[in-house]
Amino acid sequence: MEPDNLIAFHPEKFLNQVQNHLFPNSMRMTSFENSGLDKEQVNALIRSRRSVFTNQFVPGREIPDVWIWQLLENARWAPSHKLTQPWQFTVFAGAGRQRLAIFQAELYKQKSGDKFKQDKYQKLLRTPLESSHVLAIGMKRSLTANIPEVEEVAAVACAVQNIYLGVTAFGLGGYWSTGGVTYYEEAKPFFGLEEQDKLLGFFYLGFVQIPSPKTSRIPISEKTRWVGE
Ligand SMILES: Cc1cc2nc3c(=O)[nH]c(=O)nc-3n(C[C@H](O)[C@H](O)[C@H](O)COP(=O)(O)O)c2cc1C
Repeated sequence: MEPDNLIAFHPEKFLNQVQNHLFPNSMRMTSFENSGLDKEQVNALIRSRRSVFTNQFVPGREIPDVWIWQLLENARWAPSHKLTQPWQFTVFAGAGRQRLAIFQAELYKQKSGDKFKQDKYQKLLRTPLESSHVLAIGMKRSLTANIPEVEEVAAVACAVQNIYLGVTAFGLGGYWSTGGVTYYEEAKPFFGLEEQDKLLGFFYLGFVQIPSPKTSRIPISEKTRWVGE
């Protein structure tokens, strides 16, 4: 064991000690400032993220499966209360997209009755095939953790945002859809979901042919109350 006073031989430890001495807790550098990530690049990634729809994708161009695994790996690192990790994805790729297309179009036809619209049926048949991959987004309820459902849904939304950001970073396109059969109870088993689980929609993915136009947001000051004293 080296004595503690030999800190000069450990530059990182030395700097930490100086920092701890100079700055009270509230002023210390956050892990972000130490992360080595470029703040401006992170801001640009978050702020340039856009939804890109299937009719904007390059027809027939497939994303390598390893990229899809990387997007899913990013999803895996989302936060969740008690670390329940309630996300469950089903990936539809290659001929699997046709299975999704037929399933969702036929279920829609069966369920819509008088409200059936031929163009919606055709769209449900078409959009998976316009994509390279489609992820069905599931929330698998923890049976033991006793977490409010809204928190499990929120955790899955965090996972989907990670996917959105990965898609942006890779220069791909995609969007979260809650259309089609998302809210049909009968759809759940097809995606490996049970009664207590939820289907939260689909993430359509492809290479971008037509980028989405710039968008705007309400200033955050209008959405924020700041209590300073
Ligand atoms: C939970 C959720 C569900 C969505 N469902 C749909 C949808 O069903 N159809 C659609 O066109 N876009 C859907 N979107 C994408 C939004 O239309 C899109 O995020 C919004 O217009 C803002 O555009 P941006 O993502 O490019 O910033 C959904 C987004 C979220 C977060």
